[in-house]
Amino acid sequence: MVAKTSIFPKRRMRRTRSRNIQPLLREITLSRNDLIAPLFVDENISEKKPISAMPGQFRYPVSGIAGEAADLWKKGIRAILLFGIPKEKDAEAKSAYDPQGVVQQAVRNVKGAVPGMVVITDVCACEYTDHGHCGIVGETRGGTDLLNDPSLVLMNRIALSHAEAGADIVAPSCMLDGMVGSIRTALDEAGYDEVLIMSYSTKFASALYGPFREAADSGFSFGDRSTYQIHPANSREALLESQMDVDEGADILMVKPAGFYLDVLSEVATLGLPVAAYQVSGEYSMIRAAAQNGWLREREAIIESLTCIKRAGADLIITYFAGEVAGWLHEH
Ligand code: PBG
Ligand code: ZN
Repeated sequence: MVAKTSIFPKRRMRRTRSRNIQPLLREITLSRNDLIAPLFVDENISEKKPISAMPGQFRYPVSGIAGEAADLWKKGIRAILLFGIPKEKDAEAKSAYDPQGVVQQAVRNVKGAVPGMVVITDVCACEYTDHGHCGIVGETRGGTDLLNDPSLVLMNRIALSHAEAGADIVAPSCMLDGMVGSIRTALDEAGYDEVLIMSYSTKFASALYGPFREAADSGFSFGDRSTYQIHPANSREALLESQMDVDEGADILMVKPAGFYLDVLSEVATLGLPVAAYQVSGEYSMIRAAAQNGWLREREAIIESLTCIKRAGADLIITYFAGEVAGWLHEH
């Protein structure tokens, strides 16, 4: 054997990467407990309907949502996030807090069929307003825009109606000032002190929500969401937004989107509360589309995307891949 001389390295990282050693040293492992599956419930359909901008995703009828939840439960998914597409839209989003509304019915159906499933509801108005904005719109110094405080009153009503229907966690996504404090007070005063608030605490005004607008029929008829969501360039503002929700009593924070914002995610994870990351519709569809074109290996890309989100500091990942990935993790 030839003796190794000083021109060769002493510290050999490749020793730790050898075939049998490497698996022992993996820092991050995905678990089915980390994953939350978003689901769309549509009051206007009676059969599940494919979402063309999100291959592999569907809108479910109110009558079909419990079955889908049960399938996810069998795969090991323990939490779902519900979005509703109502029959009626108006300027005040009245159908969003109807006790017989689409999400309220869906929550009752799921909790009735799969009581252990943690049911999270998106608390926002954009699927329920005819103008497509996330709350009450009116005149401001900057022109027609989302009105903060009147919209807070609306969010309280929506959150209460979800809690009343049996939601375990409400997830306000409207980026209004004071939304967490206001909803916490409203829930507590009504006796729902056990219901958690998962705040969309750091939510960017992102082009990656594109496919969601088809999925949830929540596109806006004028303007955009840049007067309430954070500009992608701003990280101090992003951290402050989550800090404020800590102070207002949030139970779980969120960074959204996930993959483009891992630096922000790793900072928000230092605030002390559990953090969810939302791998949004655009992140999903980009991987799907590239894979369908044969440009990358789908399974590897999906696992890598989720592993890196977890590595950056996410305790929970909201992902449209949840059901599929749960199946793969089961095989291992
Ligand atoms: C509603 C809401 C949106 C998403 C989640 N909740 C859209 C938006 O803010 O425009 C996006 C989710 C996704 O793209 O997967 N406020
Ligand atoms: Zn909204």
